[in-house]
Amino acid sequence: MGEAHEDPVVDLRLDLAHSARIYDWLLGGRTHFAADREAGRRILSAFPAAGEAARMNRAFMHRAVAHLAREGLTQFLDIGTGIPTSPNLHEIVQGISPAARVVYTDNDPVVLAHAAALLRGRPEGRTAYVQADVTVAGSVLEAPRLHATLDLRRPVALTLNALLHFVPDDGRDRAHAVVEDLKAALPGGSALVITHGTSDFSPLAMGRVTDVLARAGTPLQLRGVAEFRRFFDGWELLEPGVTLAHRWRPGRPEDPGRPTAAEAVCYAAIARKP
Ligand SMILES: C[S@@+](CC[C@H](N)C(=O)[O-])C[C@H]1O[C@@H](n2cnc3c(N)ncnc32)[C@H](O)[C@@H]1O
Repeated sequence: MGEAHEDPVVDLRLDLAHSARIYDWLLGGRTHFAADREAGRRILSAFPAAGEAARMNRAFMHRAVAHLAREGLTQFLDIGTGIPTSPNLHEIVQGISPAARVVYTDNDPVVLAHAAALLRGRPEGRTAYVQADVTVAGSVLEAPRLHATLDLRRPVALTLNALLHFVPDDGRDRAHAVVEDLKAALPGGSALVITHGTSDFSPLAMGRVTDVLARAGTPLQLRGVAEFRRFFDGWELLEPGVTLAHRWRPGRPEDPGRPTAAEAVCYAAIARKP
């Protein structure tokens, strides 16, 4: 069953590019506006493999949450959900476990405007949408809709895919502090799934992408492998540990001689809380 949302009317600011809509454009979706398409075209000219990289990130999410649903997790908290793109997370996990419960969160009002597509789950399960900025303390963890849908005394799969590189540190280690707060609120047996952009392999191209997004008003902070690994501190990484998204338990054998440019921009890992 889905839960209706009663959020206030918001200014969509369609004149400004936003990461959710640029990403939707890169994925071939239909929810984007002129400023988003312009930023998307500039990203593609700096890094032509950006669309493929976005699809690989999405494919990792499908494999990751299917794995956790098969492992018996029935509660999912997805932060930085993005504009609905089928299959959405609830479609995957409720396909395995129809009673699974999913809470989606994003700070883009356009995602809120399309949240109805995220709320059409299986009758046995439940989905809810929380409009929140993950960097505002308590905005997710204290949301009444979160607690109406998930029982935080039981294990939760927390997914933060392609989100944290939009949380700049501003000299305060902010992204890690956000993740530590979320981790602390979850009980043993919970899972943490993260994907994150990196410039470890293509520093010039990714430097240009960072410049494009900064000019569009969306600061991007790419992180290296050590900073990525630190998000999982204290939790146990599942095999194969920290890797590139397409290498996390790929459905098909990999070509030798890879990764290609598209494959080399996104770290991924899953860990469980002991
Ligand atoms: C690149 S999209 C990723 C979408 C989806 N998680 C995926 O991996 O396919 C990043 C999403 O994070 C959201 N986002 C960025 N900063 C955020 C913040 N401070 N709080 C909540 N959501 C945020 C954006 O609105 C966007 O929908």
